[in-house]
Amino acid sequence: VARTVLDCFAPCAPGVEPLLSTEMAALGVRSARQVAGGVAFRATVRELYAANLWLRTANRVLVRVGSFRATTFAELEHGVEAVDWSPYLAGGADVRVTSRGSRLYHAGAVQERVAALLGAGDQRVHVRVDRDQVVLSVDASGDHLHRRGWRLATAKAPLRETLAAALLAATWDAAVPLVDPFCGSGTIPIEAALLARGVPPGAGRPFAFQTWPSFQPGTWASVTGAARASARPQAGVAIVAADRDAGAVRATRENAERAGVAADIEVRRSTVSELAPPPGPGWLLTNPPYGDRVQAGRALYGALGKVLHDRCRGWHLGLLVEDSTLAALTAVELHERLRTTNGGIPVRLLTGTV
Ligand SMILES: C[S@@+](CC[C@H](N)C(=O)[O-])C[C@H]1O[C@@H](n2cnc3c(N)ncnc32)[C@H](O)[C@@H]1O
Repeated sequence: VARTVLDCFAPCAPGVEPLLSTEMAALGVRSARQVAGGVAFRATVRELYAANLWLRTANRVLVRVGSFRATTFAELEHGVEAVDWSPYLAGGADVRVTSRGSRLYHAGAVQERVAALLGAGDQRVHVRVDRDQVVLSVDASGDHLHRRGWRLATAKAPLRETLAAALLAATWDAAVPLVDPFCGSGTIPIEAALLARGVPPGAGRPFAFQTWPSFQPGTWASVTGAARASARPQAGVAIVAADRDAGAVRATRENAERAGVAADIEVRRSTVSELAPPPGPGWLLTNPPYGDRVQAGRALYGALGKVLHDRCRGWHLGLLVEDSTLAALTAVELHERLRTTNGGIPVRLLTGTV
């Protein structure tokens, strides 16, 4: 069983594929192949566990258990029955279906047939029907991987942790200071501290594969043990989180505490105009408020630009925005580094140097 090689797929947000691919390479997975919407790879059981624990930008990790052509319900049922589900299903399954360009076009009907064969349960099974080709996958993660377990307190408009990790992967190398002057619930600084300490993003949460009949507790203990042994006791670099809102500052402190990185982040209650950066240059990486009023947005970006030119000469700037026109008001030359979505909304990361 230890030598079993699993056919895996890690979906991610659009645009994030190259960053996820780099993460895979760092994990030592050689077979990773980037496709639209994620990365396909082959993994041993140990690598499957490690991918779930370590990947910062993936949404989940799926194991593909069957692939066949079907144009009728009989062919679909035959294909489902041909799979050995026993390693994955302790009870039944929670079946999710997508269908595109296929004779089996009715996702609801496909769902009913497959669910009737597998029985009802918590283990998620994905059925993808694409041009009459059916792919059956078992979700090894369970909850979406952005749910790290530490963000219980949220301020307004929180970023997905996986997106914060993607922003960091696209910019910061953990060797220079990092400042987020609009930290909200602290997602960017906390992900940064975990990265700098070499702490896996999934250290505080359970995974679906732990409930599988084939679960190998010894292998999992070895993967998590190695992670604990390789983690650094501190970030070793200045990480500053600031927000003008008292509730956001409290949320950041509580979340950082839960993530085990409270000592690595200096949390301040201050407005962007009061920003006092640590000795740099470093990265100012942030997700400014999406202006509900244009005037307020202009004033805010103007204030950010002034602080940057007065106090952050030579610093690198990374802004996650929905609308890039306001960013011009910082008077910093910016280029688009990443184009993706946050909870379905198109966003882009603009970067430059002050
Ligand atoms: C889009 S949210 C940031 C969300 C954050 N990335 C997260 O994941 O929770 C923008 C934040 O900017 C803060 N803010 C708005 N105007 C500000 C100002 N002038 N100075 C400092 N913070 C401000 C708001 O309180 C809000 O928490």
